[in-house]
Order: sequence, then structure tokens, then C-alpha cells
Amino acid sequence: MALITRDVRNDFPVLDRKTASGEPLAFLDNAASAQRPNAVIDAMSDCYRRYYANVHRGIHTLSEESTAAYEAARETTREFMNARSTREVIFTAGTTAAINLVAHSWGNQFVQKDDVILLTIAEHHANIVPWHQLSERVGCRVEFLPLQDDFTIDDAVVKERLETLRPKLFAFASSSNVLGTNFPVQRWTKLAHEFDAKVLVDAAQAAPHQAIDVQQWDAEFVVFSGHKACGPSGIGVLYGKEALLDAMPAFLGGGGMIDKVTTTGFTPHHLPEKFEAGTPPIVEAIGLAAALKYLQGVGFENIRQHEHALCEMADNAFREIEGVEIIGPTPDKKRESSALRSTECTRMTSPNG
Ligand SMILES: Cc1ncc(COP(=O)(O)O)c(C=O)c1O
Repeated sequence: MALITRDVRNDFPVLDRKTASGEPLAFLDNAASAQRPNAVIDAMSDCYRRYYANVHRGIHTLSEESTAAYEAARETTREFMNARSTREVIFTAGTTAAINLVAHSWGNQFVQKDDVILLTIAEHHANIVPWHQLSERVGCRVEFLPLQDDFTIDDAVVKERLETLRPKLFAFASSSNVLGTNFPVQRWTKLAHEFDAKVLVDAAQAAPHQAIDVQQWDAEFVVFSGHKACGPSGIGVLYGKEALLDAMPAFLGGGGMIDKVTTTGFTPHHLPEKFEAGTPPIVEAIGLAAALKYLQGVGFENIRQHEHALCEMADNAFREIEGVEIIGPTPDKKRESSALRSTECTRMTSPNG
């Protein structure tokens, strides 16, 4: 357990407090929502203290500084995901809001009666309910890939379902919050594209644990939340391929997302503002950027190795307790993926959704 040192623990002020029994706090509920390091708290506090104002609409100094910081946060997020352009990075209220945006905007426009939306049975409710709601609106069908006994899904099964069902969209979590299973994003996206399906990747549980490369993944949409990645709550990210986002109608209407409004209609703004109606989560975006930089500073390889060691320890200890059944892939499966083992262990303490 050498890699993540006391310095990292010291970055999180909440870990100074003691538990009810007087022990130093150990917080294992990160999968539900992580704690924030000083870097995030300071960045947000600095904005509130020195330069907070609304963005994109004031011509005074504070607004210009806030706008610059908000757009710099978008650039940091773009770089974090390796998106081609900041036009592909939309700030939302979180993963749930991002999936709902896609289900409404893309779904209402491009999905028709009897079209299929394909999910896995290991999805969070945020990646199930919006598709049921779309089904209520347009009459599409929602189908689920079943899990095998070892809590994984073979590529052959994915291929067969894609071939038979010919879904319009295949939406799945890169890491399941229910089981900890890591699904092979790049391989499944390639398969889906062979059968003309678009792909949405729910990266809510991936963003805190691994570098995300949306160009390598090649999915049409990738979504994640700030609060699980040591950032603030109330902010998330929707990445979408630019041509597709351009072809989608605006979702929420209001200030900020319009180019022109008349008494008879409106013309939407260009990307990304088109999908950011109303005052956006300004300080939260600044906090998110600080969180992403913080994670990169600790280093995903260090994070991976530390989680691996923690999970090894937890896994061994749990298996010695009689009557405890661990739901999720066993450590001997997919050994190449230590993130799988780490999320598996996290899930034992924190099933949610
Ligand atoms: C895999 C996954 N998807 C989506 C969500 C929903 O995220 P949020 O509540 O931040 O919108 C969660 C939260 O636990 C999750 O684990």
C-alpha cells in the first residue's frame, strides 16, 4: 500500500475527522459520491471570493473572468477525455441529466416505433428509465443483454444480439455500478458500428479510475458525473460526436442556447451552448476541472495500483467470512483488469441506483 501516501490522504480535509467511535475516518462510499480534495474546494472558493459572475452575458470584468474560467474548464475536460473539440463537450447536471438529454434530443428525432434500444441488464437506473420513457413517447422497444453466470457478457452474445435486433442504439456502462464488471468499450463499440448502431457509454464509474479516450473508444456519446470523480455535485459531462450533436435539436430552451429569438421563433446557438440553456453550473465546472487535474496529478496508474492492492486485501478478507457471498466477477476472471477488481470491491460496500 505504498503508492498512495499520506500526502494524498492529507489532500482531503474531511478525512481529518474521526468516526463516532473515535477512529480516523475511512471513506469507502466513493462509488456513490467521492469526497473533494482541497484543490477542488479552493478552486471553487476562489471563484466565489474573487471573480464570480454570470458567464457569456456580462461585459464587466467579473463576467469576463468567470467566462474565461468556465471555458478553460471545458478545455480541461476536453483534454481529459481526448475529445477533438470543445464543441463536443457539453456541461450537464450529471450523468442522469446527460442520458436524459440524449434520450430526448437524439431519441425523439431519430428513434421510431419498433426501433430497438439495446442495454445490458447491469445498467444503473439512469441508463434504463430514460429509454423506457422514450419508448412511451415513440413506441420503441428496450431490450437487455443478459449476464452470464460469471457476471460478464461474451462478445459472441453481444454480436448475436446486435445482428438479430439491429438496435438503433447500444447503451452500456463501461463499469457496472451493480457488479463492478468492466465491459470492453472499444470492442463493443466496433461491433455495434458493424451493425449500424450508435453507442452511448455511461462512464460514471470509469472517470474516477481510468483515463478516458473518446477518440479511441469511438462511441457517439460518453457521459460522466463530476461528484464521483472528486468534483462537485450538480455537474456532469456529455461528450457527443460533433456532427451528431449538430444534427440533434436543442433539448431545454431558454437563455444562452439561442442565437436569435423573435416573436415567432428562435434560432439555436452553435455547439456547445445549444445544449446549455440557462445559467450553467459555473463554479461547479471550475471545480470539476480542478478535480480532473487533481486525478491526473495523482496519476491513474498510481490509482490503479493502489485500488488493486486495496481490493486484494478486501477480497481476501471478505472471502474468509462465512456466509458472505460476493456478487460480481471473481478475481480470477479478467485478471488483466484490476479496475474490475477495484470496482467489484467498491460495490460490495456500496450498491446503488
Ligand atoms: C454507472 C452509473 N451510471 C449513472 C449513475 C448516475 O449518476 P448521477 O446520479 O451522478 O447522475 C451512477 C451513479 O451511481 C452510476 O454508478
